[in-house]
Amino acid sequence: MNLAEYKQLLAAIPYGKRLPSALYLYRDEPLQLGDAIETLVQRAAISCGATQLYNVLKFRLDELKVSFLAYPDFLDDPHPALRHAITIDLTTGKHRETDYAGNINPPILHRKEAFVPHNHPKRAQFAALTQAEEAHGLYENSATIGFKLNWERLLAAKGLTVEGQSLRPIDIAGPEDMPLPVTRGIDRHKTALTRYDLSKPVKTLVEYGLLKTGTTFFDYGCGQGSDVNGLRALGYAASGWDPVHKPDGLKQMADVVNLGYVLNVIEDPAERLDSLVDAYRHAERLLVVSGLIQQTNQALPLATTPRRWRYSRLRGTLRR
Ligand SMILES: C[S@@+](CC[C@H](N)C(=O)[O-])C[C@H]1O[C@@H](n2cnc3c(N)ncnc32)[C@H](O)[C@@H]1O
Repeated sequence: MNLAEYKQLLAAIPYGKRLPSALYLYRDEPLQLGDAIETLVQRAAISCGATQLYNVLKFRLDELKVSFLAYPDFLDDPHPALRHAITIDLTTGKHRETDYAGNINPPILHRKEAFVPHNHPKRAQFAALTQAEEAHGLYENSATIGFKLNWERLLAAKGLTVEGQSLRPIDIAGPEDMPLPVTRGIDRHKTALTRYDLSKPVKTLVEYGLLKTGTTFFDYGCGQGSDVNGLRALGYAASGWDPVHKPDGLKQMADVVNLGYVLNVIEDPAERLDSLVDAYRHAERLLVVSGLIQQTNQALPLATTPRRWRYSRLRGTLRR
C-alpha cells in the first residue's frame, strides 16, 4: 500500500480524533474501519506484538506509521493516562516502544467521545464532560493540558475536580488544596554561572550562521546575562529574562530564543513543560534548548523550529 492509498482509506473512517498529523481512535471490538485498514492493523499488531491491551490506535497522516497505545483505564478514567506505546513503521517493519509506567507526568486524553464510534454506549457521557470542561474554559490554553500534572494544576487553579465523569467544584478551594510542586531542593539562583565567554549553544548558533546581524535574540532564563551582554557587544539585538536574576526583563518575541541549561534546574515536571512551551511561543524562527544530562553531565544542545515541533541534535538539524 502506498501513502496515497493509505491516506484515502483513513479519510473514509467516519470517526476518530483528527489532528493535523494524526488520527486517533479507540480500538473497539470488532473494529469498524474497513477491510483494508483492519488487515493492515492486524498484520502490524502481529509483527510488533501489540495485543488487545493496546486499545488506542494512532495513524500518522503524513507517513506510513501506526502506533498502538495502551490506556488501561480508557473507558472508566475521564482522562486516562498513557502506559505504553509501540510505533511501527509500515514501510520498514521496524518498531519502537516507549514505556510511561514510571512517568509522573504522562500524556493523558481529553475529548474521549471523538475516539469512539458514533453508536458507542459511552459516547454521550464522554461528550457531556467535554462540554462542561469547555464551558469552564479548561481548553482555552491547550498546549500543556495533555499532561497529567499540568491538567491537575489547571483544575485546582480553577477550583474544580473531575469525579467519575462529572466536573465539580472543589469543596474548599484555597492554596492549601493546590497539588504541591515536585521539588528536590535545587537552589536555582545558585545555578547561574558568571561566564567570561559566550555559552556553547550560543557560540554554536553563531558558528552555524543562525545568528546573523539583524536577527533578534531572546535568552529565556538568561541567568547573569553573560550571553545577552556578549551578543550585544558583538552588535546583536539581544535581550533576556530570568525569574531570579532579571525578573524585570520583558519576555519578548524574537527570531531566535535560547533556553540554555534551564530545564535541568526545574525539578517540577509540570513547570518544566510550561517553561518549554512558553519559550517556544516566543520563538519566531528557532528555539535552542540545552540541558545537562545527569548521567554524563554533558551539555546536549537541541534545536526546534516553531513550524515543526521537532528536536534533534544541533549538529544534525541546523545545517541545511
Ligand atoms: C544554569 S542557569 C543558566 C543561565 C543561562 N542560560 C546560562 O547559560 O548561563 C539556569 C537559570 O534558569 C533560571 N530559571 C529557573 N527557573 C526558571 C523558569 N521557570 N523559567 C526560566 N528560567 C528559570 C535560573 O534562575 C537560572 O538563572
